[in-house]
Amino acid sequence: MQAVKRIGRYAFERFESLFDTIFGVQHNPLYHLGALGWFFYWIVAVSGIYLYIFFDTGVHQAYESVEYLTYTQWYAGGIARSLHRYASDALIIVMLLHLLREFMMDRLRGPRWFSWVIGIAILWLVFACGITGYWIVWDKLAQYVAIASSEWLDSLPLFGQSIARNFLHDSTLSGRFFSLMVFIHIAVPLILLFILWVHIQRMTQADVNPPKALALSVFAALLVLSLIYPAESQGPADLSRVTSSVGLDWFYMAVYPLIDLFSGLTVWAMAGLATVLLFILPWIPRKKTSLAVVDLENCNGCSRCALDCPFSAIAMRPRSDGSPFAQEAVVLSSKCVGCGICVGACPTATPFRRHSALIAGIELSDHPVMQLRQQVMQTSEGLTGSTRILIFNCATGPDLGALRDNATAVLTLSCIGQLPPPFLDFIITRGFAEGVLLTGCREGDCHYRLGSRWSKQRIARERDPYLRERVPRERLEIFWAGVDQSSELSSRLRAFRQRLAQLDPVRAKGRPPDPTEAAAENA
Ligand code: HEM
Ligand code: SF4
Ligand code: SF4
Repeated sequence: MQAVKRIGRYAFERFESLFDTIFGVQHNPLYHLGALGWFFYWIVAVSGIYLYIFFDTGVHQAYESVEYLTYTQWYAGGIARSLHRYASDALIIVMLLHLLREFMMDRLRGPRWFSWVIGIAILWLVFACGITGYWIVWDKLAQYVAIASSEWLDSLPLFGQSIARNFLHDSTLSGRFFSLMVFIHIAVPLILLFILWVHIQRMTQADVNPPKALALSVFAALLVLSLIYPAESQGPADLSRVTSSVGLDWFYMAVYPLIDLFSGLTVWAMAGLATVLLFILPWIPRKKTSLAVVDLENCNGCSRCALDCPFSAIAMRPRSDGSPFAQEAVVLSSKCVGCGICVGACPTATPFRRHSALIAGIELSDHPVMQLRQQVMQTSEGLTGSTRILIFNCATGPDLGALRDNATAVLTLSCIGQLPPPFLDFIITRGFAEGVLLTGCREGDCHYRLGSRWSKQRIARERDPYLRERVPRERLEIFWAGVDQSSELSSRLRAFRQRLAQLDPVRAKGRPPDPTEAAAENA
């Protein structure tokens, strides 16, 4: 399974690089698939409300009212109908790509199962919205969909009466049943909206709005498509005739040819099996996560960790240990994915503190800050030359083993956001290296959602904890590299080294932190 994901991830990243070149990193649609899904949902909802104003819900009047909208009122109703249809199709495309991408990027295991499992419910609901939508137009395609769907439903021993019986003849067609379909077509999108909201409940600052320029260009493309190729019906339904050929909307109806080929129960079994398979994917294989742990003695209740956690896994609660601080951080272990971004946010995670006291307010259980400081100091001892570089990368980023040499060391973190900015200060001002290179997942697409964004903002002094002014920025380099960008990363490293060689030498390394200085640094 992990091998499939590795190949899939590489393939996605190749396309992402290409799209970065075409659209720019900020507007690359592959980084905003979920947000585009929301955007298409809203287009469908708004155009649907407009259509409903003129739509006649009677079975014998529905077709005529849609014809009126399409031709007589082409400038508004016709465009709304086309936008409604094309945005629904686009929703399927981005939803399936989003599903595939989250799987290939392995963003579904551990506590992330939640969004995945809710996503499966979304999948079913989106299809239910689309199918009932085609049904209520009551043209030839609707007739085909109505008969095929009800025969498929009849194969389940759930309903007392046959649903397909409704469609034997015009005289058996029940207006009430048709109104039920219209009701379902309105109720299911409302349920979908609620489920979409639940889908992002475990994420802080979920990306639900695509960048303005991307949204505008996508909307313009849908509008142009609506004008040059307006959505039309396929002739009125006529139950006295068997529909010989209809044009299917493959985005919603790809499963229908299977209903014609196999028995209804077989197709239910296939759909059920596919759903169960999707359902168990987050646990194949199981993921062991190292949890964040709060040390109350060192927590001053500043809430930075809670603000920076991308997965809403930290709650601020009233103090429980009698200390004068009002609040304390509490990790909600069922939501914690072990990214360590909270550690990078904690003001007490500073390597300048005395050796014995280096326990931060919040720590990753398998990689405490004291160990990180130890690693920095030991690694630095093994480096030689006048342009020693420490690279920090993420466990989910590309493998950087090939970059290691006498003057270059690589320290791997869970996420680059795990690195507290005072470490950069410590390394450079104490002379443990001449330069530090930060890298991780590709630009605009952090595996843990917000790690690279927060790191950039902390270094730029836009987000607490700030990197101190005294740290010379020319000794820092950032390059977010995807798995297909190893050669670019090597070139960046070479250029960085040349730049460092031009700078004045740094202070000799290795001065161990002393308690008096530590007190001043921490103040
Ligand atoms: C219309 C359909 C959908 C919409 C609009 C949608 C929207 C979103 C949004 C906005 C995010 C947050 C992205 C971020 O800020 O990082 C997200 C994340 C996610 N979605 Fe969806 N989604 C849809 C369908 C699905 C489906 C069908 C699945 C899979 C079965 C799925 C699985 C996930 C997963 C695993 C995450 C990531 C959670 C994480 O990073 O921990 N989504 N989705
Ligand atoms: S950032 Fe550190 S000090 Fe602040 S609330 Fe979180 S654990 Fe406590
Ligand atoms: S490690 Fe910290 S930031 Fe990451 S999910 Fe757990 S609590 Fe949140």
